[in-house]
Amino acid sequence: MRIAIATAGGDCPGLNALIRAVVRRSESAGHDVVGLERGWEGVVEGDGRGLDHDSVRGILRLGGTILGSSRYDPYVHGDGARDVASGLEKVGAEVLIVAGGDGTLGTAARLAEEGIPVIGVPKTIDRDVPGTEATIGFSTAVQIVTDTIDRLTTTAESHHRVLLVEVMGRHSGWIATAAGIAGGADFILVPEHPFTVGEIVDIIGERRSRDRHHTIVVVAEGIELPAEAQQAEKKTDAFGFDRLGGAAAALAPILEDQSGLEARVTVLGYVQRGGSPNAEDRLLATRFGVAAADYAGAGRTGVMVAMRSQSVTAVPLDTVLGEAVGVPPELMDIAATFYT
Ligand code: F6P
Repeated sequence: MRIAIATAGGDCPGLNALIRAVVRRSESAGHDVVGLERGWEGVVEGDGRGLDHDSVRGILRLGGTILGSSRYDPYVHGDGARDVASGLEKVGAEVLIVAGGDGTLGTAARLAEEGIPVIGVPKTIDRDVPGTEATIGFSTAVQIVTDTIDRLTTTAESHHRVLLVEVMGRHSGWIATAAGIAGGADFILVPEHPFTVGEIVDIIGERRSRDRHHTIVVVAEGIELPAEAQQAEKKTDAFGFDRLGGAAAALAPILEDQSGLEARVTVLGYVQRGGSPNAEDRLLATRFGVAAADYAGAGRTGVMVAMRSQSVTAVPLDTVLGEAVGVPPELMDIAATFYT
C-alpha cells in the first residue's frame, strides 16, 4: 500500500519526528510513503516525493517540517474532496495521514465525511484540539516560555519592573497557564478566565508591600481586553481564524498608570514554534506516528490519533468539530494559589 503524509497549518517542533515514525513503521510493514508538500496545497496538487529510511535519517531532532506547511484549505481555495481525491490519485496513495490543529483536522473530518480515506494527527502548540489530552508541540512551547520567564525574572528584579510576557495559544490559555505555573508567574491572564486591571494592580501592590519589587504577568494572546484597552479591528487567516497579538502592549500603559511602576512587554511569538523538539514531544510524535501508520496499514480511516489517559488510541475524526479544549478551572485554581 502507498501511504501519503502531509503537515498543515501552523508548524511546531516534533513534526519531523512524526514523519520519521510514519515512514519507519510503514516500511517495516511493507508499505511505502509519499510526502506531500506544503500542507493541503501539496495534497490537492499531488506535489509529493517518496520518503524512505534514508530520507528521514537525522530528522528526529529537527524543528519545523521537511514537507513544509501552509494555511491553504481545499474547501476555501478549491473544490474540496474532489481536488483532494485527484491529488491522492496522482501520487497513487490509498490513504492520507495529515498532521494539523483544529483548522486542519476540521477540514480532514469534512473530507472523511465525503469518503476521503484520511487519518488525523493532532499537532499544535495550543493544545486545544478536542478529543485528545496531548498535541505535538505543546510541551516544547511550554519549556521555551518557562525558560523565558526565568530570564525575565532576573531583569524584572534588577529594575523593580512589571514584566508582561505575551504567549501564543490562539483562544486557549494552556501555554500561558502551564508555563506560568512552571515559571512562578505572579499572575496569568487567559481567555478562559476574565480579569480586571484592578486585580493585577492589587497583586502588584501586595507584592511590593512584602518587599518583592518585581512582577511577572503572563498574557495569553487571545484574552478579552478590558474596555479601556480595546484594540483596532482584528485580521483573519485562511481558515477564518482571528490574527491575534498585541494584548500585552495594550495592557502595559494602563498598568503603569494605575500602579505607578514601570511596565515592559516581551512578545514571544514564533520563538514558541521554532527549534528542536524536547524529549517529550519527540516521544509523543513517535508514538502518534507509529499509531497512524498502523491505522493506515489496517485501513482504519476517518479517525484521529489521540492521547487518552496516557494511552494512544483512535477517536472519530468528527470529534475535532467539538468545543476547543480550554484550561480547566482546577488548573486555574492551582495557578491562583501562588498569586498572593
Ligand atoms: O495555532 C498555532 C499558532 O501558533 C497560534 O498559537 C497562533 O495564534 C497562530 O498559530 C499564528 O498563526 P500564523 O502562523 O498563521 O501566523
